[in-house]
Amino acid sequence: MESRIRNPQLAARITSAEEAATHIQPGMTVGMSGFTGAGYPKVVPQALAARIGAAHERGDRFGIRMLTGASTAPELDGVLARTGGIDFRLPYQSDPELRERINRGEIEYMDIHLGHVAQYAWSGFFGKLDAAVIEVAGILPDGRLLPSTSVGNNKTWLDLADHVILEVNADQPAGLDGMHDIYYGTALPPHRRPIPLVAPGDRIGEAYLQVDLAKVVAVVESRGHDRLTPFAAPDATSACIAGHLVEFFRHEIARGRLPPHLLPLQSGVGNIANAVLIGLRDGGFEQLTAFTEVIQDGMLDLIRAGTIVTASATALSLSPASVADFIEHIDDYRRRIVLRPQEMSNHAELIRRLGCIALNGMVEADIYGNVNSTHVAGTSIINGIGGSGDFARNSFLSCFMTPSTAKRGAISTIVPMVSHVDHTEHDVGVVVTEQGLADLRGLSPKQRAQAIISQCAHPDFRPMLQDYFDRAYCGSRGLHTPHLLPEALSWHQRFLDTGSMRTT
Ligand code: COA
Repeated sequence: MESRIRNPQLAARITSAEEAATHIQPGMTVGMSGFTGAGYPKVVPQALAARIGAAHERGDRFGIRMLTGASTAPELDGVLARTGGIDFRLPYQSDPELRERINRGEIEYMDIHLGHVAQYAWSGFFGKLDAAVIEVAGILPDGRLLPSTSVGNNKTWLDLADHVILEVNADQPAGLDGMHDIYYGTALPPHRRPIPLVAPGDRIGEAYLQVDLAKVVAVVESRGHDRLTPFAAPDATSACIAGHLVEFFRHEIARGRLPPHLLPLQSGVGNIANAVLIGLRDGGFEQLTAFTEVIQDGMLDLIRAGTIVTASATALSLSPASVADFIEHIDDYRRRIVLRPQEMSNHAELIRRLGCIALNGMVEADIYGNVNSTHVAGTSIINGIGGSGDFARNSFLSCFMTPSTAKRGAISTIVPMVSHVDHTEHDVGVVVTEQGLADLRGLSPKQRAQAIISQCAHPDFRPMLQDYFDRAYCGSRGLHTPHLLPEALSWHQRFLDTGSMRTT
């Protein structure tokens, strides 16, 4: 471990996780590292949870406001949610325990575009940041920090927090050194300057994070691997969705609307996004680039195969098998992967300049192309909007994908009206299910409805959607976006009442 903590001043502050956790007091706002299960602190949150649990047993209230990069893991979100120690949380989460408590109304959760978090924090909208708990892979002799497997909002938390706790994880590969690009040129309006990045692989900052050494109250040695989620092998449905997209890309290239090497890819979270990447590899595409948030297994495969030549992201989110490969070939990956703060990976200016192709999953779309990425039946959150909005609004091409049904066919993911809106019809270029692909660009609302119903809806629900649209066209007061308002959300109500959107 000595070789990982090379600054004598910080080495003198090495302490236990339990001791470090005493710096976090009830009511504090704490910025933690962690993005899609990577680079989160592994031991201090568990010690904090034990402290919170003990306080609750004594009858003392102990809750914190917790900000991260994105989702973390059971050792952070799970354990703190279980003790009832989280009063407020943002921005993205996927932990079952945390989700359950948010949906029970016990935790206030703010779902916010990942690219907006840093500027909200700098502007003071979250209040004062009392503490930061950040996992790093090492500390340099001059006190700069070698970032871990995610960067997320770490730069912002380190800059803003009154007190900093560092977890130095010796199990994170030392070969990460040189993979990061931390840009320190950001500012709040009216002092912003153009960000000098014109290609996904550009390095415009420094390889290390900076911290004011005087603020570091504890350094904790930790071990332990990231969440390491295994991915499901692509099933027939996701392979079909991937097939439609690959065919569509070929068509766009043939018509001169996309270049032969496509445009920088953004690939969302989940198994379908992963399957699409595999589809691109098998589809014979070459010399691709990625400008995205997370590098999952599918993307690492493409980088290894040489299909993707450069990938920019803010985090790695790999399965155990891919981690082994990543560590074995880290010197090669370091030449092709750049990990940046999420305010850069998800920056509207950069996404628009590069002209990304956004590929995101969704919960449901309505016949007009509005998309719900986050809520079941309008009220229960699944994960959060993540970076999907950053990319949907600003990309050259914004695609949303889903199987046409959910819950073993009981739910149609194409509905008359979405029960919650994350992406409006104006930000949705393509909707794709295993049934087919609807290219909505250049279409009016009624034209979009016809395309989505005929191309994307499951055959069992297609006649019901067509019937709704036809009756709305006759019975709606306005005929620009025809709706039957009393009926528009009736499919969701039927699901809540009967467990199915199907009519008997
Ligand atoms: N109604 C109710 N539940 C639905 C549903 C619908 N219309 N569509 C999906 N679900 C449920 C699934 O049944 C599944 O639940 P289960 O785990 O209990 O079986 C869950 O939602 C996840 O769906 P899954 O089919 O496994 O899809 P996925 O892994 O591709 O994830 C999202 C889909 C929408 C949850 C995911 O893409 C997401 O969180 N998106 C928002 C964030 C984002 O886009 N980030 C990208 C940039 S970081």
